[in-house]
Amino acid sequence: MFGNLREDFPTLSGENAPVYLDNACMTLRPNSVIEAIRSYYEESPGCGGRSVHRYATTVSRKMVNCRNNLGKLFNANESNEIIFTKNATHSLNQVAKGLNWEKGDVILTTDREHNSNLVPWLQLEEEKGVDHRVVKSNEDNTFSMENFENACAEAGKNLKMVSLSHVGNLDGVATPVKEAAKIAKDHGALVCIDGAQSTPHMKVDVQDLGIDFMAFSIHKMMGPSGMGGLWGKMDLLENMRSIQSGGSTVETSHYDSMVWSKPPAKFEGGLGNYAGILGTNAAIDYISKINLDDVHEHEVKLNKVMTSVLKDVNGLSIIGPEDAAKRGGICSILLDNIDAHDIAILLDEAAGVMVRSGMHCVHSWFNNKGLDRGSLRASAYLYNTEDEVRLFAETLVEAVEALG
Ligand SMILES: Cc1ncc(COP(=O)(O)O)c(C=O)c1O
Repeated sequence: MFGNLREDFPTLSGENAPVYLDNACMTLRPNSVIEAIRSYYEESPGCGGRSVHRYATTVSRKMVNCRNNLGKLFNANESNEIIFTKNATHSLNQVAKGLNWEKGDVILTTDREHNSNLVPWLQLEEEKGVDHRVVKSNEDNTFSMENFENACAEAGKNLKMVSLSHVGNLDGVATPVKEAAKIAKDHGALVCIDGAQSTPHMKVDVQDLGIDFMAFSIHKMMGPSGMGGLWGKMDLLENMRSIQSGGSTVETSHYDSMVWSKPPAKFEGGLGNYAGILGTNAAIDYISKINLDDVHEHEVKLNKVMTSVLKDVNGLSIIGPEDAAKRGGICSILLDNIDAHDIAILLDEAAGVMVRSGMHCVHSWFNNKGLDRGSLRASAYLYNTEDEVRLFAETLVEAVEALG
């Protein structure tokens, strides 16, 4: 479906190329991203947005370009609604800690959130006395609109924020964000989306979704590690406190006062990760040329292959709905008697297959179910092939039969 695209990824060429199935953690990077990072250090190692010499001006221009491209990708109203952050965690913390809360304000998340969309709200509960509530999912881990509507109604006028993962990293299950956002809005709440697992795999239009904030991870979108972003509606950004203040965050300062910068500068304190931003620009350029509907279709096709090999094997079970089409590119597997880390090491050593093992930062879900071994998670992306996922699934079956 994607032609010779694998050739763009240096780690996928050569005899020792791994079967890389840890894409929900971090994707691989194409040559153009690596080249953009190299070009920063070798050709224009300047300080964007500040100095005015040639190096800095080159970087400043590329930063503007990058913000524009991200704005276009997500259909932001204006590119200044895009803030560069370290990662999605940083972005979610900015929202949680930058808004004003009162004791008793209700914040809703679900029972299958990544720690990054749980812990900042738990921290607010500890420190500010907000009332964080968890919406229970259906038995198969899909979003329960009924439970959500009830939770909104119960919170009533105290409902202030609904913060949901767009797609779960635990199982690949998507949340019907547009419908949920409409209900939350009818109750006067703000809506924040953790887009870490949706933005690399599907078209995301923040205006169409009717949301207020969205956090995303650039390292899951073929960009550099240590880069993420936050999109927010301009009027909300203008009124939100920055969790980091210093250089760039103010237009001017006096010994006893300062004038805050406008967004996004207000939130981008200190010297930036310019190599990361240039790499991000190349990644967004790369992803923008790909039809993300095709990416989703490809991942589901691969997931169907993994699912068909694994679904009736004794000693293992797949988390989430039976239908692979409802789990995107993620196949997350509970093993009855074997440690997931042991299998992950074995898969790499014996078959060159790289997957993730453990609780994937969704400890709350595993703890609630008393599943202390975590799971083995294979997550596919656009460069993976049917042969690769079959190798993973068949090797896993052999291992379970030998060790289980
Ligand atoms: C759903 C989800 N949210 C948040 C995060 C955190 O992302 P980051 O590492 O960019 O902070 C992840 C990372 O795996 C994730 O999968």
